[in-house]
Amino acid sequence: MTPSDVKATLSFSDGSPSMDLPIFKGTVGPDVIDIRKLYGQTGKFTYDPGFLSTASCNSTITYIDGDKGELLYRGYPIEQLATNCDFLETCYLLLNGELPNGTQKDDFVKRVTNHTMVNEQMQFFLRGFRRDAHPMAVLTGLVGALSAFYHDSTDINNPEHRQVAAIRLIAKMPTLVAMAYKYAVGQPFVYPKNNLSYSENFMHMMFATPCEEYKVNDVLVRAMDRIFILHADHEQNASTSTVRLCGSSGTNPFAAIAAGVACLWGPAHGGANEAALTMLEEIQRNGGIEKIGEFISQVKDKNSGVKLMGFGHRVYKNYDPRAKLMRETCHEVLNELGLQNDPLFKLAMALEKIALEDEYFVSRKLYPNVDFYSGIVQRAIGIPVSLFTAIFALARTVGWIAQLNEMIGDPEYKIGRPRQLFVGAEKRDIKPIAER
Ligand code: SDX
Repeated sequence: MTPSDVKATLSFSDGSPSMDLPIFKGTVGPDVIDIRKLYGQTGKFTYDPGFLSTASCNSTITYIDGDKGELLYRGYPIEQLATNCDFLETCYLLLNGELPNGTQKDDFVKRVTNHTMVNEQMQFFLRGFRRDAHPMAVLTGLVGALSAFYHDSTDINNPEHRQVAAIRLIAKMPTLVAMAYKYAVGQPFVYPKNNLSYSENFMHMMFATPCEEYKVNDVLVRAMDRIFILHADHEQNASTSTVRLCGSSGTNPFAAIAAGVACLWGPAHGGANEAALTMLEEIQRNGGIEKIGEFISQVKDKNSGVKLMGFGHRVYKNYDPRAKLMRETCHEVLNELGLQNDPLFKLAMALEKIALEDEYFVSRKLYPNVDFYSGIVQRAIGIPVSLFTAIFALARTVGWIAQLNEMIGDPEYKIGRPRQLFVGAEKRDIKPIAER
């Protein structure tokens, strides 16, 4: 971080002593005002619920320009990564800061491949769940349970442990997500196969059965791999901030990632892809494209509580670049499967067109985000709606780990412990129950 030659001066109208606050510049993006000494010198906190104006850390991993609709992983535009790289190359980049050369990539792929199995005991956790349990409930439990098996990689302050835990989590998430799916549909678990690529392996574990040879479809595998790349990391979003805060207590990486899975589940965050598809199916059931006007009116009516799921973003005030790439992937997958006239895709594009021309959305800079089209692609691939957020968690695991490791590797990091503005009862004495 480079201290700027400009300072911020905080002064008080009641004559309290003013204070100079240093300003730091990043490589790109907004400067930050360093308030670390504020409380010590003024006895006052800042107040920013939702952290709309707060930088919680400095980071070198991902940068979003919300106005331009730009997303960079370690400086590389998401469009280039989604076109020129695969997910494991992207994982290597996010974890290490540089894209791998051929040898580095082969070694990384081999290490991940050799960690794809889970302990046989893990299957007994699944048996404790109802078959209709939500996959995110199952995944939250399974990821947390990993810490019960890998005592040789739970010391978050040990770089070797962090490295092994990173490989294990990236390698095992597809296996766990596929197990959650197989358990839900009552089919036998399918073991990973080391001769398949990461995304081929996932598709095989999801859709193969003991009864016949499963043939991977390269277009669908490429689409799955791109979905993983697009969801891999995204600055300090709610689940990443959860992982950082959880990890700051020194807990093990598996527990911290399990906290991220739990946070991602929410419909305002990773759960939006499931909610967006459910929304499209409901509009379709209620009359489809002809009824879009009615639905949009509901969304604009504050009392309806209805939101256009898959639209809007805290940072993007322009089109989410991932949504554009996801829409392209939609076209590829639907064409490959002969579903060009998929009614939901046509409905989604009609809804997008109407919303982008409507003053309500334009004035609030509400554009489609990554979740608007991802459900249509995943549904076409054969993934059930309830598994969409688990797939998001699978992909985001590498981002969570990279961010967690960056924090732990920062000598300045401390346990996160925000303060508050207390507006509750002043100190008072308890009355005997007869007098209450
Ligand atoms: C993800 O943070 C990340 O980076 C997340 C993510 C990642 O990769 O990690 O990108 C993944 O979570 C994408 C977002 C998925 N969520 C959804 O699609 C759910 C629908 N979207 C909204 O809930 C909302 O847009 C948020 C939560 C995404 C952002 O909300 P903000 O920044 O807190 O903004 P806001 O709720 O204050 O909205 C501003 C205005 C409000 O209207 P007014 O009070 O100004 O009149 O816009 C309205 C909101 O009512 N609004 C919407 C809307 N989103 C915001 N109105 C209708 N439909 C929507 N989707």
